[in-house]
Amino acid sequence: MRAQIGGTGAETATRYDFIRTDAFEWLASAPPPPASIHAVVTDPPYGLVEYTDAEQKKLRNGRGGVWRFPPSLDGHRRSPVPRFATLGNGDRERMRAFFSRFARLLLPVLVPGAHAFVATNPLVSHLVCGPMTEGGFEKRGELIRVVHTLRGGDRPKNAHREFAGVTVMPKSCFEPWGIFRKPCEGRVQDNLRKWRTGGLRRASPGAPFKDMVFSSPARGRERGMSSHPSLKPQAFLRQLVRASLPFGEGTILDPFAGSGSTIAAALAESLSGIGLERDEAYFAEGRKAIPLLAGLPGA
Ligand SMILES: C[S@@+](CC[C@H](N)C(=O)[O-])C[C@H]1O[C@@H](n2cnc3c(N)ncnc32)[C@H](O)[C@@H]1O
Repeated sequence: MRAQIGGTGAETATRYDFIRTDAFEWLASAPPPPASIHAVVTDPPYGLVEYTDAEQKKLRNGRGGVWRFPPSLDGHRRSPVPRFATLGNGDRERMRAFFSRFARLLLPVLVPGAHAFVATNPLVSHLVCGPMTEGGFEKRGELIRVVHTLRGGDRPKNAHREFAGVTVMPKSCFEPWGIFRKPCEGRVQDNLRKWRTGGLRRASPGAPFKDMVFSSPARGRERGMSSHPSLKPQAFLRQLVRASLPFGEGTILDPFAGSGSTIAAALAESLSGIGLERDEAYFAEGRKAIPLLAGLPGA
């Protein structure tokens, strides 16, 4: 199923496609360059198990499985978070295979010099980044999203009193995003001229794009626009989509689009985007959420 909404920005023609499909199937039949993708900004299901049908059923029933339901705070319900510490060896092997397949199918669809920003997590980032580079991408750095999550910082389970001065894992204060690039054709300047990709757009002429971004979780009005448990905030995503296209030209892909927040950010920045989402309920919600999220005032 396809939600296709075309729009024309003030100066740039912008349009987006939001498609209900499996990302791997779509990538396998997507056209090669030049009719293809110039950047990727995505928040994949990096633990994999959390977005299986079985785990989604438990999440929607409000209990059990890999999803943790944090207690509400000041009367506000907080979003559930997946537990990555419970992943076993088999899960880790499946993740490697998932990202190897992803890299293999994505690379041919991108123009040379295209950047890919891929969200990950401190516990599993090696299982995302290793297969991406083995699959032909250059690693161009990591972006640190400074965000206070509900992960880590706990005392040993059932022995809190005995080990009151111990924490099992650091309290997580950041979310790493891998920054990858498809190798350029020739020098960066050649690639920029021919493909309009290869570099990142500056925040302003005097300020390069920086690899640390302070960002709170989506809250308030924005949080109310989608119930997706992994909704990323517009103020953060808009910086990424803007940086991903050095001249603001081309198409941004989010193969694991969830509520379509990346596509909404692209729209807000007058950029074109394609979002893919497999889950029927998230897709239906995303169709409504994209225009609302895109309409939020700028940060
Ligand atoms: C971490 S969430 C992305 C949430 C998104 N950042 C947002 O702000 O709404 C990952 C999404 O990928 C979807 N997904 C998982 N496997 C997929 C696949 N093979 N093809 C397309 N979507 C998939 C899941 O249903 C889930 O909604």
